[in-house]
Amino acid sequence: MPLLLLLCLSSLPFLSDSAVPAIVVFGDSTVDTGNNNAIPTLLKSNFMPYGRDFLGGTHPTGRFSNGRLASDFYAEAFGLGPIVPAYLDPAYTIKDFATAVCFASAGTGLDNATSGVLSVIPLWKEVEYFKEYQGRLRRYLGVEKAKWTVNEALYVISIGTNDFVENYYSYTTTRYKEFTIEEYNDFLISLTASFIKEIYSLGARKIAFTGLCPMGCVPLERTMNLFYGGGCLEERNWVARDFNSKFQGLIGVLSASLPGLRLVYLPVYDFFLNLVNNPSLYGYEDVEHGCCATGLFELGYLCSQWNPFTCPDANKFVFWDAVHPTEKTSRIVAHYLVNTTLSQFM
Ligand SMILES: *[C@@H]1O[C@H](CO)[C@@H](O)[C@H](O)[C@H]1NC(C)=O
Ligand SMILES: *[C@@H]1O[C@H](CO)[C@@H](O)[C@H](O)[C@H]1NC(C)=O
Repeated sequence: MPLLLLLCLSSLPFLSDSAVPAIVVFGDSTVDTGNNNAIPTLLKSNFMPYGRDFLGGTHPTGRFSNGRLASDFYAEAFGLGPIVPAYLDPAYTIKDFATAVCFASAGTGLDNATSGVLSVIPLWKEVEYFKEYQGRLRRYLGVEKAKWTVNEALYVISIGTNDFVENYYSYTTTRYKEFTIEEYNDFLISLTASFIKEIYSLGARKIAFTGLCPMGCVPLERTMNLFYGGGCLEERNWVARDFNSKFQGLIGVLSASLPGLRLVYLPVYDFFLNLVNNPSLYGYEDVEHGCCATGLFELGYLCSQWNPFTCPDANKFVFWDAVHPTEKTSRIVAHYLVNTTLSQFM
């Protein structure tokens, strides 16, 4: 008994509940910090001009940004370092992953069919990596501290947009024949519920799920709407709002059935739409085009360092490429979400 007490006392430093011991990230390109570099897919961004403003230098890491992503800023706000390293990046070890790890894969979705479109990592495989990670964490930290870390970590999920952009609305799979858009939203919500139950069963408790953005306002969607004036595609924004309200309905259901779960919704939609509608408030000069290339449709390999149209100052742009925000936008949104929502885990 005294020995046990001693063991407990000696482990007191990690019992502090003022913050979280680790951040664990699941999702798509909005939070993928380089996992796609390690897999055979065409959807990559580990070349210039991606990463040209990364931590004060030029480091194309595989982030779909000129710099860091929102999840990197969350890690920083929680005192867990300036970035969240990608699990498949051989430059990092379990020592790094013990406080911050990212399983996300650009181009993936909630729906298995979505990850198949560009041969990226399906969400179920992200969970397999999470299981493997737990084994490595146990060997590194010991069973008790690893379990504690997994229970107390902050889990951030950012996923869903590709299920519409790459899948349902691009007719790359048969989903558009199988579901009406409302039914597809219901299907995605049921997949979200299964995913959250699964990571809960693996020990996750503090889970932050990012709401969908006004995806009809990204430059690529505006380009598709060019014939009608190039404004936001309102139908896509409606779909995002419908998904978000259905997700918020799910929180009560899951919280009632999973004891100890602290599931929160990161309300990005209204804040982002306000930013898009009032870009000058934040010193932006262009919200309709990405900085990279013409800004109308380029991303991935089409956003090439030889394109002469790429803008000199990404801070004047809301979007970096035709779909993804600039580092500045990610920082502004991340700080807002930390201050309004994630701070409850601090
Ligand atoms: C997705 O694929 C995985 C692996 O094949 C499978 O276990 C899972 O049931 C699939 N999910 C759905 C909803 O079909
Ligand atoms: C959030 O808080 C940080 C300080 O922690 C501050 O620098 C930042 O301006 C705040 N952002 C917003 C959007 O409120």
